[in-house]
Amino acid sequence: MGSHAPETLRDRTVLVTGGAGFIGSHLVEALAPANEVRVLDDFSTGSRDYVPEDVTVIEGDVRDPIALQKAARGVDVIFHQAAVVSVSRSVGEPRRTNGTNLDAGLLVLEQARQEDARVVVASSAAVYGHPAELPVPETAATEPTSPYGVQKLAIDQYARLYEELYDLPTVALRYFNVYGPRQRGPYSGVISTFFEQARADEPITVAGDGEQTRDFVHVSDVVRANLRAATTDAVGAAYNVGTGDRTSIQDLAETIREVTDSSSPIVHRDPRAGDIRHSGADLSRATRRLGFEPRVSLESGLRSLADGTSIAPVVDPDGTPDSNTEHTTYG
Ligand code: NAD
Ligand code: UD1
Repeated sequence: MGSHAPETLRDRTVLVTGGAGFIGSHLVEALAPANEVRVLDDFSTGSRDYVPEDVTVIEGDVRDPIALQKAARGVDVIFHQAAVVSVSRSVGEPRRTNGTNLDAGLLVLEQARQEDARVVVASSAAVYGHPAELPVPETAATEPTSPYGVQKLAIDQYARLYEELYDLPTVALRYFNVYGPRQRGPYSGVISTFFEQARADEPITVAGDGEQTRDFVHVSDVVRANLRAATTDAVGAAYNVGTGDRTSIQDLAETIREVTDSSSPIVHRDPRAGDIRHSGADLSRATRRLGFEPRVSLESGLRSLADGTSIAPVVDPDGTPDSNTEHTTYG
């Protein structure tokens, strides 16, 4: 573990695209005390309220080369989080989502070459499609089942290629299903949707039979993976970011009903187009090369969401272990 990259970053100038969004804003919060942080966001799903006051916010579209150039001037690291994250929206609008999810990513890589900056790309478990094996390692076949998955696979591969061809330090992080505070809205993840439904005592809407499974990873763990990716020597590669555990959507619905003390009925709707059946991360590569290990179990993560307590990725900016041990069951 001694040779692994630390879980902190200091004294750098960094750009977080999509930094006003769910994952991006948690990352900004972890980076802001010790770095000069800029955010480029069009607020299509993100909110200015999520960004700490001392952070420079550039309101703009990541597809706009001028806005990107301005935001990226002089940066050391770009964390590229901006995207249209909804799988079902990509099924409805493949070309439009391609603009944000792929074309803009290429612009980011090009801009990084100009600035000689490292790029950490938010990739996705969606690149695997229906995984050929479970848990799925990074070496598994990639056959996405949605335009979103194809777009993420393409930017994930471009990142690797930019390291190979141009010696640009890049890392692609294949997030599994991320959840935590600030996830919201009609196109956000199933956990935030179920929480909203349970709290309103409205029906909890399970798509299909509910036996499909996902690997739910807490946003604080995703932030920790990003911090490691920011300094690791193991560049030019993709890493799974999950927990290794799988939970069915039916079980999730029942647990959320329980932790919120809700009387919502659980109802079943038609299965979703482009949905994958099972998903679970093999973390061997991320653990071996990045030293990444998840800390927050789904149970403790859901309880903290229900209680409104927060789980910080890094409490002490000097990198001493975080003190939220009561929430953690991993590592
Ligand atoms: P989010 O929608 O909360 O964040 C995306 C942010 O990007 C928002 O602030 C939005 O306003 C901004 N944005 C969107 N289009 C933009 C544009 N054209 N120009 C500038 N800003 C733009 O979603 P999130 O869940 O925080 O996702 C962050 C990243 O992680 C995305 O790249 C997503 O594909 C990836 N990811 C998320 C999950 C998950 O489970 N949430 C899983 C795998 C990968
Ligand atoms: C999610 C992310 C995607 C990411 C991928 C990585 C979002 C919106 N999507 O996709 O960006 O790349 O993980 O694994 O964060 N479901 C219901 N009822 C609902 C909503 C969803 O049963 O009301 C089901 C879906 O059919 C699916 C599962 O819950 O089987 C998860 O859905 P969702 O949270 O949208 O995530 P993914 O499609 O897995």
